[in-house]
Amino acid sequence: MDTPDRPRRLRIDGIRPLVSETTLEATDLIAPVFVDATTDERVPIETMPGHERVPVDGAVDRVEEIRETGVEAIIVFGVPESKDGEGSGAWAADGVVQAAVRRITAETDAYVITDVCLCEYTDHGHCGLLEPDAREDPTLTVENDPTLEALARTAVSHAEAGADMVAPSAMMDGMVGAIREGLDDAGHTGVPIMSYAAKYESAFYGPFRDAADGAPAFGDRRHYQMDPANAREAMREVELDVEEGADVLMVKPALPYLDVVRDVRERFDHPVAAYNVSGEYAMLHAASEQGWLDLEATAYESLLSIKRAGADLILTYFAEDLAERL
Ligand code: PBG
Repeated sequence: MDTPDRPRRLRIDGIRPLVSETTLEATDLIAPVFVDATTDERVPIETMPGHERVPVDGAVDRVEEIRETGVEAIIVFGVPESKDGEGSGAWAADGVVQAAVRRITAETDAYVITDVCLCEYTDHGHCGLLEPDAREDPTLTVENDPTLEALARTAVSHAEAGADMVAPSAMMDGMVGAIREGLDDAGHTGVPIMSYAAKYESAFYGPFRDAADGAPAFGDRRHYQMDPANAREAMREVELDVEEGADVLMVKPALPYLDVVRDVRERFDHPVAAYNVSGEYAMLHAASEQGWLDLEATAYESLLSIKRAGADLILTYFAEDLAERL
């Protein structure tokens, strides 16, 4: 019996690892850390089993736990003590992220990335400064250009606190350029920008919004985050961020947007990051709690597929669990 080829020849145990095309390593992963200025104890995040918000005092311990698994990089999100209309806590020199980053960089060797956005700091929960009539008029939300200055100030305050890299996630036009200019003017020419370049208006962020207390008080983010229907538009978004000086290009979420990850990989030579978001984490946990899916296996397969699609680095809530097994 003649078959043209027998791919199964390479699937036997001795050769399988040698012909494996994709690898996943602890150093590919970035672990999110939530620091909460409103608590002095760790608070479990219900929608994200295994994750907790930690007080500023506990940030160093939390990062050390992560480092012990082999994961070297973290991204810090903050829950501030109080919020206001402008989100001024985002750039406060003694704000929650700034205070935590100061300690983490002084006491650990972690590579520290900060999320640059206003949604956790504004009392309305939007990612920037509101248009004057935004609360009454559903066609309005965030005013682009006045928000740029706030984002630049925030990024500079993170760099002053010692952040190794900043990651703007507000999806304002021109934000990467404004932040690059702000950092350079303040002397932080060596701090790279990982841009949330193609960030979609996704329902998969739900659990995160509980974790970071950043859900919009009215309306949604469709006027600034991308329409899930659009992939070509993502290339324009990424192109602009490249022109404005982005160092790393991120696609978010990851699994429902692997086509976009692949497109960015093929068109640009910058490192590509993908954010395996809170909903992607929560759904595997929920199914495994029911006994319907094997958590470890599905998490591993998910992250492997994100790398196979073309991501160099992955932000993921599975970072520690996975790294421990690698
Ligand atoms: C802030 C921000 C969000 C996430 C990361 N940065 C929330 C949002 O845009 O609503 C989501 C991360 C996740 O779901 O894991 N803008």
